[in-house]
Amino acid sequence: MSTRPVAPSERYRGIRRRTLALCGGLSAEDMMVQSMPDASPAKWHLAHTTWFFEQFVLGRKAGYRPYRPAWHYLFNSYYQSVGPMHARPERGLLSRPSLDEVLDYRRQVDEALSALLDGDAAQDMAPLVELGLQHEQQHQELLLTDIKHAFWCNPLKPACAPSAGEGGAGASLPLRYVAGREGVAGIGHLGAGFAYDNETPRHRVWLAPHALANRLVTNAEYAAFVHDGGYREPSLWLSDGWAAVQREGWARPLYWEADLASEFTVAGVRAIDPHAPVAHLSYFEADAFARWAGARLPTEAEWESAAEPLPVAGNLLDQAPKLPAAAQGEGLQQLYGDLWEWTASPYVGYPGFRPLSGSLGEYNGKFMNGQWVLRGGSCATPREHIRASYRNFFPPHARWQFAGLRLAQDR
Ligand SMILES: [Fe+2]
Repeated sequence: MSTRPVAPSERYRGIRRRTLALCGGLSAEDMMVQSMPDASPAKWHLAHTTWFFEQFVLGRKAGYRPYRPAWHYLFNSYYQSVGPMHARPERGLLSRPSLDEVLDYRRQVDEALSALLDGDAAQDMAPLVELGLQHEQQHQELLLTDIKHAFWCNPLKPACAPSAGEGGAGASLPLRYVAGREGVAGIGHLGAGFAYDNETPRHRVWLAPHALANRLVTNAEYAAFVHDGGYREPSLWLSDGWAAVQREGWARPLYWEADLASEFTVAGVRAIDPHAPVAHLSYFEADAFARWAGARLPTEAEWESAAEPLPVAGNLLDQAPKLPAAAQGEGLQQLYGDLWEWTASPYVGYPGFRPLSGSLGEYNGKFMNGQWVLRGGSCATPREHIRASYRNFFPPHARWQFAGLRLAQDR
């Protein structure tokens, strides 16, 4: 195996190429669809990630002239401090610029970035380029989740990755609880390698006696909850969750068909694999299932203290999209990959948290209300994008992410 270090410009181009590769099976029409206000068109993802490099890296160079100044308004997502932006629910109205124009935008910005990374300013710009690449990887997963939702909304139920999951895994592990660490523990980023501001500062927490399930909850286990009337029993639900069940008519996970035997996947409609982990749950559903099962969700500190000593390995995104698969092996499994795990922890700043300075302080910090932390990455998370201290966050009603759950118990 080669040990040649990857040059920064090579790494940059590799990550940018992968975003395009994930769009390989999509038409220009596919890439314009916005299926709901929370999702964005694939074309918008391609343009917005490019805008991010232009705004926060190239724009810091004296005399840089934006590729198309009028596009700043279209592809700024939520950075109020750099100017107004097009309304998020209306991203699907942007038939102009065309896909070809967006792809040309990417090429132009990639050339400028490659030149920068091969030049004298590379060292100074390295932290911003790294943030841009991490942002690009984050959007690779969002692109997949959004196109999956868009295709599910199409009555033809097309596949975005027809060969994903071929061969399948076997039976899952029997459910077993593994005692967690007790007492004082450190959580948060340790200082080596990249981390977002919301993973810092590292700090001490107190862990009460507890145990974590050795794997994620399976489709078969979740089906038992559905058959037992889980969606019809208000005592199992948080008040806002029960209101969502009533209002939205929830009766099963987002992509399960009414027959409870098949589900929509990136490979199209497939028979539900009883051994695979149950996917596309909201926090409310994960919480209700845990209550029904006589357990609870893990806190993010319990999760991180269990994951930190373990290598980052699992069913994560390499090149082509995958399906979540049955757990195999000894000890705690599926901490990384397969599905993000809803935790019992609200998304708030750690003690002493300080957002990044300037406009990039808007990246994470301003979302610290009304959302819950998810841990561990999914089969749509780029393998090199996840780590023990990584904190993902979504509102409790969100169902379209690759999210499932692991059970925990007090001891
Ligand atoms: Fe973004």
